[in-house]
Amino acid sequence: MSTQSDTDPNRVIIFDTTLRDGEQSPGCSMNLEEKLKIAKMLEGMGVDVIEAGFPIASPGDFEAVNEIAKVVKDAVVCGLARSGNMDVDAAGEALAPAERKRVHTFISTSPLHMSVKLQMEPEDVHQAVIDSVTRARKYTDDVEWSAEDGTRTEHDFLCQCVESAIKAGATTINIPDTVGYTVPDEYAELIRMVMNRVPNIDKARISVHCHNDLGLAVANSLAAVSAGARQVECTINGIGERAGNASLEEIIMALRTRFDVMPFANNIITEKITPASRLLSGVTGFNVQPNKAIVGANAFAHEAGIHQDGVLKDAGTYEIMTPESVGLNKNQLVLGKHSGRHAFSAKLKELGFEIGDNAMQDAFRRFKVLADKKKDVFDEDIIALVDDEAVLNANDRIKVLALEIKCGTVHQPPEAALELEIDGESKACSGTGDGPVDAAFNCIHELFPHTATLQLYQVHAVTEGTDAQAEVTVRLEEEGKTVNGQGADTDTMVASVKAYVHALNKLLVKREKTAPAALSA
Ligand code: KIV
Ligand code: ZN
Repeated sequence: MSTQSDTDPNRVIIFDTTLRDGEQSPGCSMNLEEKLKIAKMLEGMGVDVIEAGFPIASPGDFEAVNEIAKVVKDAVVCGLARSGNMDVDAAGEALAPAERKRVHTFISTSPLHMSVKLQMEPEDVHQAVIDSVTRARKYTDDVEWSAEDGTRTEHDFLCQCVESAIKAGATTINIPDTVGYTVPDEYAELIRMVMNRVPNIDKARISVHCHNDLGLAVANSLAAVSAGARQVECTINGIGERAGNASLEEIIMALRTRFDVMPFANNIITEKITPASRLLSGVTGFNVQPNKAIVGANAFAHEAGIHQDGVLKDAGTYEIMTPESVGLNKNQLVLGKHSGRHAFSAKLKELGFEIGDNAMQDAFRRFKVLADKKKDVFDEDIIALVDDEAVLNANDRIKVLALEIKCGTVHQPPEAALELEIDGESKACSGTGDGPVDAAFNCIHELFPHTATLQLYQVHAVTEGTDAQAEVTVRLEEEGKTVNGQGADTDTMVASVKAYVHALNKLLVKREKTAPAALSA
């Protein structure tokens, strides 16, 4: 069901916009390295089109699309553009190195957006559709046009714009539910209306793009596919503007599990869903809610005795899909302190890490340290360890050298002693705070004064048990720029300081880049 060709009329193209619409959501911004990591992960899981960013939005966005275009080979790389020439040119230029590229241009078509947001007459919007698609075709044959706020657009005008976009050369027509307003039956009817009324619709593929304001993004997307749409736009973990976009994993697993009623093929390797979700959570600091479908911590947990009994007799009693089908290996015990380099390297390969010899030596050394501290080393521990290694950058201006904390009922207030290397020079201080984390963060402030404010401090246990590694995310904000830092360690305080310093290093890199103009799409 998953490896059928593009000519199959029931093949659904999976268009992932985690790096564009997802990244636009507050607090989800990623740096270049993180975007490249996510893009490679999306390519590896079989996504057909990767919307890599909005090149005109900032030099950083342009660079990210451009770099992703250089490395992704198996998926189409897409860049977003409003209807103006500069937008379309920026997208075309950023995508130049891509083997397969798509320019995605859009303009609002609803009466409200045209009059209030664009302050344009419908005839001018219609002309902008033609002009932008025509210009995008100079860069590639693969052009997508979107009617922003499509679900609140008058049908006659929508059909007129779609027909003209196709005449101008668009090969994918997207009808977004930009504000998450529609409901499944109505959206399916809208898709059927476009298919019935637009005379040249057979020359394009219809795409759907749903936001989740009413919690209906996935249901609406699936209803549209049943009505004839053959591209779905979605994001990992459903991240995106406001309540988010349709979640990729929910769409894919619904299509796979209910193939009997929705016989539509796609190319996603479902076993890569859980690692993808975790990678994104780690990078953005947005952990999914425990009861989130497919990737939530409780999605495959059976608490009630009656359910456990049923599942032990036959998993099908309460499980409509297996944890393995989404790549969930429950706390597999893999290695211990006696495991050798060879077993460690084989495990890394099995978990999908391809790292060079030096990084491998470092990871192995850190694994030995971890195995000394922690009795059982699980897959999740190894993933956290390698991810933690990856956040350390040789060019980091600030490095953690030593930390000591005194806290508890005796020490009033808690005390931290911290040693950092800053621009090659070792500096130490001690300080107190309202709790041990506050004491440690106060020391960072003293050693490296800065104005960034702490927006998020989040601790997540990588596995179960009191000896579990803590994975900490720290989000800092400075003059509208937000960064997430991560750190992992069996000592929560060490992980916290590592995460803060990681965020600070990222902020220093960001400071050097030009401030992007705020844009919305
Ligand atoms: O939600 C929306 O309408 C969009 C468009 C740019 C496709 O994100
Ligand atoms: Zn959107």
